[in-house]
Amino acid sequence: MKTIFSGIQPSGTLTIGNYLGAMKHFVDLQEENNCYFCIVDEHAITVPQDRLKLRENIRSLAALYVASGIDPNKSTLFIQSEVPAHTQLGWMMQSISYIGELERMTQFKDKSDGKEAVSAALLTYPPLMASDILLYKTDIVPVGDDQKQHLELTRNVAERFNRKYNDIFTIPEISVPKVGARIMSLQEPTKKMSKSAENQKSYISMLDDEKQIEKKIKSAVTDSEGIVKYDKENKPGISNLLTIYASCTNESIETLEEKYADKGYGEFKQDTAKAVISILQPIQARYYDLIESKELDDMLDQGAEKADQVASKMLAKAKKAMGLGRVKKKK
Ligand code: TYM
Repeated sequence: MKTIFSGIQPSGTLTIGNYLGAMKHFVDLQEENNCYFCIVDEHAITVPQDRLKLRENIRSLAALYVASGIDPNKSTLFIQSEVPAHTQLGWMMQSISYIGELERMTQFKDKSDGKEAVSAALLTYPPLMASDILLYKTDIVPVGDDQKQHLELTRNVAERFNRKYNDIFTIPEISVPKVGARIMSLQEPTKKMSKSAENQKSYISMLDDEKQIEKKIKSAVTDSEGIVKYDKENKPGISNLLTIYASCTNESIETLEEKYADKGYGEFKQDTAKAVISILQPIQARYYDLIESKELDDMLDQGAEKADQVASKMLAKAKKAMGLGRVKKKK
């Protein structure tokens, strides 16, 4: 049995990208592993957030996890800020990270680009992420493609700590899905689909209704060739829709290419929308039941308690290894 850890930021309603790149795989993993899934609210405040909206987003993300199939009896589901060990070990991880390596992170470069005031926490985001992962002796971190660089940093920092202090951290492996690791924007298919994008037509939210999904896929940018074929370089729009369709139905891209060999984009887009709707509809039905329930709070309380027990032990080990705290006298 392996230990799995992953996190999602409550920074807006999740997109089909978050689902296909990450969440969908969490559900499969929980059957045979010891899984921790986190709502990383402390990561979300590295950029400005409206406090009321943030709290809503935290609850909404918790409900989406459960609605998508995360079973709190099988996995530990919790909110990062409810387990203080994360920021505590995060500080220790910051103290062994170098400014140079943090400045090289593409997420930092993208999010700080052109901004006048950038928070210090945006730069020190990756050591906190390392702390999330290392607290639980994580073997595998299932994430989308965009988190590769952060995972590499986590491994480097963990190895550095083990070498310098004491060999206490498990070095985690990344797991990225073969199909769906990078779902692209529907409007600019050379850019990643993002929940914080301004143009709502560029992404499908997990809570979009049938009409919205149909409309957004219908207006997705493609090309004028009229051939349903996977070619990321020359046909990024069609390739992205093929990826979405294939990830939703678990069919291979080749099977879909054959199926639509003599059909136009209209029919292909309609069927892609149907595939997305059939995945999202049952999730949405469960979501609307859960979001108002006390059951969700009970699950999160239990999750935080379980996570805290494990995390506190690792935090104590790390403090000792670094020489924090004091030597207690017997008499
Ligand atoms: P976040 O909140 O941006 O995204 C959550 C997960 O969704 C994946 N993802 C995508 N996958 C495919 N296509 C896309 N367009 C797409 N957009 C997002 C992300 O790769 C991620 O797996 N830093 C992390 C959160 C985090 C974390 C952690 C993850 C904090 N601590 C510890 C793993 C382990 C983030 O910002 O994800």
